[in-house]
Amino acid sequence: MSNYHIKHLEEYYQVYRKSVREPENFWEEIAEEHFMWRKKWDKVLSWDFSKPEVKWFEGAKLNITENCIDRHLRTKGDKTAILFEPNNPEEKAQHITYKQLHERVCKMANVLKDQGIKKGDRVCIYLPMIPELAISLLACARIGAIHSVVFAGFSSTALATRINDCDCKMVLTSDGSFRGEKTIDLKGIVDEALGNTQCVETVLVVKRINSGINMKKGRDKWMQPLLDKASKDCEPEIMNAEDPLFILYTSGSTGQPKGMVHTTAGYMVFTAYTFKNVFQYNNDDVYWCTADIGWVTGHSYIVYGPLANGATTVMFEGVPTYPDWGRFWEVVQKHKINQFYTAPTAIRALAKQSLDFVEKYDLSSLKVLGTVGEPINDEAWKWYNDNIGKKKSPIVDTWWQTETGGIMITPIPFVTPTKPTYATLPFIGVQPAIMDENGNEIKGNQVDGRLCIKFPWPGIARTIWGNHERYRDTYFSAYKGMYFSGDGALRDEVGYYRITGRVDDVIIVSGHNLGTAPIEDAINEHPAVAESAIVGFPHDIKGNALYGYVILKETGESRDQNNLRKEINQIIAEHIGPIAKLDKIQFTQGLPKTRSGKIMRRILRKIAQKDTGDLGDTSTLLNPEVVQSIMDNAL
Ligand code: WTA
Repeated sequence: MSNYHIKHLEEYYQVYRKSVREPENFWEEIAEEHFMWRKKWDKVLSWDFSKPEVKWFEGAKLNITENCIDRHLRTKGDKTAILFEPNNPEEKAQHITYKQLHERVCKMANVLKDQGIKKGDRVCIYLPMIPELAISLLACARIGAIHSVVFAGFSSTALATRINDCDCKMVLTSDGSFRGEKTIDLKGIVDEALGNTQCVETVLVVKRINSGINMKKGRDKWMQPLLDKASKDCEPEIMNAEDPLFILYTSGSTGQPKGMVHTTAGYMVFTAYTFKNVFQYNNDDVYWCTADIGWVTGHSYIVYGPLANGATTVMFEGVPTYPDWGRFWEVVQKHKINQFYTAPTAIRALAKQSLDFVEKYDLSSLKVLGTVGEPINDEAWKWYNDNIGKKKSPIVDTWWQTETGGIMITPIPFVTPTKPTYATLPFIGVQPAIMDENGNEIKGNQVDGRLCIKFPWPGIARTIWGNHERYRDTYFSAYKGMYFSGDGALRDEVGYYRITGRVDDVIIVSGHNLGTAPIEDAINEHPAVAESAIVGFPHDIKGNALYGYVILKETGESRDQNNLRKEINQIIAEHIGPIAKLDKIQFTQGLPKTRSGKIMRRILRKIAQKDTGDLGDTSTLLNPEVVQSIMDNAL
C-alpha cells in the first residue's frame, strides 16, 4: 500500500525519503492504486532538463474526467461535488452532485463536439465564477480539447493576445458577471477582443445577468438551448498521458505572456495527491478555495485536485466585501467549511476591518487554513491564526507556481509544525535547492539564495505553447540541470523554507503576477510618453504596489500631470486590466541606465521603497546624475 494519506511527521520523512530515493517506484504506486487508467504506462518517467523534456507515465491511456467524475458515481453519486455560492447572498446556493455534474459535463461536451470542437483544438474560456466555468473545463477535458482559461478581469487586449497566441477556435463567455454591487459586460469585452482575432469561429454565451447584449449572427450562440438539446451521455476521449490538458498564461519578463502547457496524467496524479495531503481532506469535509478558476490555484485546487478525490468543492462568485466585510465568514458558517484556502492579500484586507465581522459568525467547523500566491507577513499570519483558526487550525502556507502545476513547499497540517511566514518543508517528491548567483548550490542550513528544483515532479509544465526555446531559456538555463523558479528563498536552522519574493522582473500585486514589460509597453503607447520603467514597492494590503517612472516627450511636458496619470492608468486598464494600474507615477527627465542601455531597476526599486541609504554600485551607470534628481522628486 502506498502512503496516500500522510498522518504524522515520521511518516512524512519516511515517505519523503522514498520519494527522493526511488521517485519512479514511489509515483508508480500512487498512480496505480488511486486512479483509473484505460491502459497502464510503459515507463514511469523519462527526463532531460537540458532539452528540456519531461514525460510521466508514458504509454498510459486515461481521461481525467473519468477520474474526477465517473469513478465516484457508484459510491458518491449523490454527494455534492460543486457547491456554488452566488454573489448575492439572497440567491440560493446550488448543490451539484457528482451525478448532476456528470450529466452537465457530458451535455456541454456534446455541445462542444456539435459545434465542431475536436481533440487538440483550443477553447478559450472567459467566464465568471459560475458552475458553467468548472463544467466547461471538464467538458473540454472530456473530449480532449485543450482549455485556455483567461481570468475574467483581463481586458479585451489581453484577451485577444491570449486567444491569438494559441489559435482558439471557440470562446465560451457569459452575458456578463456580478461582482459585488457591480455588473461587468464580459460579452462586450469578448466582442472587442474578437475584432483583433481571426481564429475564433464560434462564441457560446451563458446567460447569467440577463443583460441585453448583441449576438453576432453565425458566430454567437446561446449556450442553454444547445445544452437542452444535447445528449447526457458522452464517452470520454481516451487520452495519452502526455496529451495537453490545458494552457494557462502567466506573466513573464517580456511583453508576451507565457502559455504554460500542462499535460494529463502527471498533472492529475500530482494535484490529487497534493490536495489530499495538504488539506487533509476527509470524506465528508466541505472545502473552499476562494481563488478564481482563471488562475492556476483554481484549476488545481478548485477543480481537478478536489474532484479527483471525490471532494465537495465550493465555488464562490462574489467578493469578500459584499454585502459587507463579513461575507467570507458568513459563507464559512453557512456551509460549515472545513478547509479554507485564500490569499495573503485578502487576509491583510480583512484584518484591517473590525473584528465584529468575524465574531458574528460560528467558525468552529474550520480545521485547516491555507494561503497561497505571495509571501504572508508575520502580522497577517498571526491575525489569521488567532482570529480565524482560533489557534487550533494549522495554517498551510503553500508555495507553488503556474509552472509547477501543484503545491511544492508546504506544511502538512497536523503533521508539520508550522512557523509563521515559512512554507516549511518540501512536499513529497519535491527536491528544492538554494543556489548562489554563480550557479553553485548552497548546502546546509541558515542560508539564502535562489530557489531551484533539482528533479522533475509529475505536475511540472512541459513547455510554453509554441515556444519551447523560451521555456528552456526562462526555467532551465540559469542553473544547469535544474528548474529555476524565479523566486528567492532562505532555509532556516531546521531546514524550513521561507520564500522571500521574486528575483526577476515579475511583481506580485495582490497575489497576481505582473510582468514589468507588458505594463511598460502599455504606458509607452500613450502619445505623450517617451519611456517608462515599473518597479514594485511594499503595500500594506496588496503586498506590493506598482511605482512607475515616466519620461515624457516634449509634447507632454506642458500637460497637467494628474490628467496624464489618469490617462496612463486608463491605458494600462485597457491593455492588461485594472489589476495592473500604478499607485504612483513619477515624471522624470531620465532613467538610470547601464552602458548597454539596460535600466537599473535595482536603483529605481530602492527609491520607490524609500530605502536610499545605500544604492549599491552605481559605477556602471551611463548617467549617474539622474539618480539624484529622481531621488529629489520621489513620491
Ligand atoms: C509567489 C500561484 C511566497 C511566488 C500558485 C511564485 C508565493 C508566484 C507563495 C507564482 C507562497 C506563490 N509564499 N510566495 N506561499 N505562493 N508565491 O504562478 O513568487 O500565480 O513564484 O501561482 O507566486 O504565482 P502563480
